[in-house]
Amino acid sequence: METGDEIYWDPYDAKLAQDPYPIYRRLREEAPLYYNEKYDFYAVSRFADCERGLPDWKAFSSSRGDILEIIQSGFEIPSGTLIFEDPPVHDIHRRLLSRVFTPRRIGMLEPQVRRFCTDVLDPLVGAGRFDLIEAVGAEMPMRVIGMLLGIPEADQPAIRDMADDALRTEDGGKMDFKGSENLTSDAFGEYIDWRREHPSNDLMTDLLNAEFEDEHGEIRRLTRDEVLTYVTVVAAAGNETTGRLIGWIGAVLARHPDQRRELVENPSLVPAAIEEILRYEPTGHSIARYVNEDAEFHGRTVPAGSALLFIVGSANRDPRRHAEPDRFDVHRGTGQQLTFGLGGHYCLGAALARLEGRVAMEEILKRFPTWEVDWDDAKLGQTSTVRGWETLPLLID
Ligand code: HEM
Repeated sequence: METGDEIYWDPYDAKLAQDPYPIYRRLREEAPLYYNEKYDFYAVSRFADCERGLPDWKAFSSSRGDILEIIQSGFEIPSGTLIFEDPPVHDIHRRLLSRVFTPRRIGMLEPQVRRFCTDVLDPLVGAGRFDLIEAVGAEMPMRVIGMLLGIPEADQPAIRDMADDALRTEDGGKMDFKGSENLTSDAFGEYIDWRREHPSNDLMTDLLNAEFEDEHGEIRRLTRDEVLTYVTVVAAAGNETTGRLIGWIGAVLARHPDQRRELVENPSLVPAAIEEILRYEPTGHSIARYVNEDAEFHGRTVPAGSALLFIVGSANRDPRRHAEPDRFDVHRGTGQQLTFGLGGHYCLGAALARLEGRVAMEEILKRFPTWEVDWDDAKLGQTSTVRGWETLPLLID
């Protein structure tokens, strides 16, 4: 068997991140279990291996984080950070959040999301050019999280700025991981206190009032700190990821003008196009786990105590799963992509992210049926958590 030692894949290499797909192909074929000595981690890149491993929390734990640097920092994760927990505690926290994060509540946001898009896009008609990230990608997701939480519209920009400062990841290199500072942001603290005094029909009010049985069998409500942790996790998980999806809409459709024309003529294809963009250019490429017990992949052992990356950006392009995976095709009937993860931690905001992507694409196509990208001025970046456009100037008629 090939050991793959001759392939070198560096998840922090900004140049490689410009087009990681050729090296993913080599990893899948030549080193389906890859070991990187410099950073001391293992990685699997085939769809079947990600599909098997991601739901297996007993072998591959989230309790030390799902980002390589966090796992390797040995940082003690605060309770309630559900994305970094295993069952049974994860089940309790996830159930509680799912009770307030309902499909109905998400569906109710659509008119507000559409109004937001209309308000930012209408003034750009006739502008000649605009940066899609500045106008929509960097703005919309945190505003939508504000809508979900019931933050009054006038306060939303201020909350977005505070949360962005606390939650943004820097381009290139490793995350500057400072422990709990990255995991809790007091941006929402004041709002929690205000909302407790002024209950209404929103997720935050429900979260403050929800009674649940905790891991010690006690029936109680969440503490202020716990609510703050929940809300910060939701904001961290839903902000940059969704912002990057908006950028990929602009870039991928510019490169596929025939399919863009079809979408303009037949907007009922838009949800399928969002699925295909999520598969083809996922906003996050890897999900990390701590290996709890020795695990076998392709005849080799990954020892307990290792960090293992599931490269979903590669799995989504595995030809064993998708025919001609490097072809973008809105008619693919995508089936499964792993961009939202798999198993117990499957993205709780997937329906909201899809809604935001769909509404943004519909409203963009209505006003701008064609555009070019000024590629010389566009900037693609990768952090530990997301890959996508930081600047994407669109040239419009
Ligand atoms: C395109 C946009 C998005 C992508 C690609 C994405 C991706 C993911 C992935 C891969 C996971 C699983 C991580 C793991 O297994 O360790 C996850 C979990 C999560 N996501 Fe998303 N996400 C997106 C948008 C959102 C939005 C809009 C929200 C909420 C406003 C959200 C909230 C969450 C939460 C709360 C979790 C943790 C679930 C758990 O641990 O049980 N995400 N997301």
